[in-house]
Amino acid sequence: MKEIRKIAIMTGGGDCSGLNPVIRAVVRTAIMKYGLEVVGIRHGYHGLYHGDFVKLGLEDVEEIITKGGTILYSSNKDNLFQYPVRDANGEFVRDENGKLTYEDVSDVGVENLNKAGIDAVFILGGDGTLTSGRDFARKGVNVIAIPKTIDNDLAFTDFTFGFDTAISVATEGLDRVRTTGMSHHRIMVVEIMGRGAGWMTLHAGIAGAADVILLPEIPYDINKVAEKIKADKANGKEFSIVACSEGAKSLDGKQVILKVREDSPDPIRLGGVGSVVADQLEKLVGSEARATTLGHIQRGGVPTAHDRVLSSRYGYAAVELCMKGDFGKMVALQGEQMTAVSLEDVIGQKTKNVDPNGELVTMAKAMGVCFGD
Ligand code: F6P
Repeated sequence: MKEIRKIAIMTGGGDCSGLNPVIRAVVRTAIMKYGLEVVGIRHGYHGLYHGDFVKLGLEDVEEIITKGGTILYSSNKDNLFQYPVRDANGEFVRDENGKLTYEDVSDVGVENLNKAGIDAVFILGGDGTLTSGRDFARKGVNVIAIPKTIDNDLAFTDFTFGFDTAISVATEGLDRVRTTGMSHHRIMVVEIMGRGAGWMTLHAGIAGAADVILLPEIPYDINKVAEKIKADKANGKEFSIVACSEGAKSLDGKQVILKVREDSPDPIRLGGVGSVVADQLEKLVGSEARATTLGHIQRGGVPTAHDRVLSSRYGYAAVELCMKGDFGKMVALQGEQMTAVSLEDVIGQKTKNVDPNGELVTMAKAMGVCFGD
């Protein structure tokens, strides 16, 4: 095996709390334990394509453990294996049907790594970013992958950093709207991120004592939700808290789409279901209802202590994997153990979703929470 002397690290996809603590752990372990050189690739695959590399020293990761976001910046629309073609003016080149056209520019990324003398690249990202990571590994790049998603929906790993921070923020959101609900006898709907997975809403909903939890995994019947709120009212409870996933589906299986980002590998952005649910409940129940969308507030800010520890574990385990020459793998948390799984096994797996008959849902139902089913 070629000796590892110089590594690169990059962050792709949406940011989340915990990325900086991972970068810190990788840089400190690589330099302090192994005396490696470390390079940061800025703006994810965009920077890999354009050779936007910076040297990372211990001083660059000082004081970043408390910071949200990523000091390396990120991009969620630069798949080098399917890169939108642009003309000389930077405009997208479209086919006769008006659709974007694509080309494979991944060789440029490989060349840039070789030119910079990089022996291994650490890729932090979710589904899309890690799919490209696997494809670079197939091209012979020494890839070490670190899973990143606040949605906590990646297969083979129990918890990802950023999730704990996100659910803490969402729980605080539920706690805060509670006072208005109580003071004004209102139905307060809080829309929580998570794309097609209801983990954040389920955890925050339980922690925030929501009366109703609506998840993508359990299609809801709005009439059943209204009945539950009316029954609570009849029993003297004058307000209700509804934790609603942005990906919640009504019985017809439809989700509410906020926008479509044509140039993104994952173009659908969900959003707006909270307002739809609030309007419907106002009519059906006859109480005033308000919706709050937490949005990116859940992704930002100071990582919790739990996430800082988890991020440090991911970063350290990633460097150890690299020094063993165990490439093409993703670091994973399984139970209490940090372990590693082949990217070939991870990619293409179904996302990890809430089990409608699992322990958490069963427990919440036993305590009177309505899931609209
Ligand atoms: O996957 C993380 C996530 O925050 C989802 O929960 C959310 O649906 C999506 O990203 C939002 O993406 P963007 O930042 O592109 O709007």
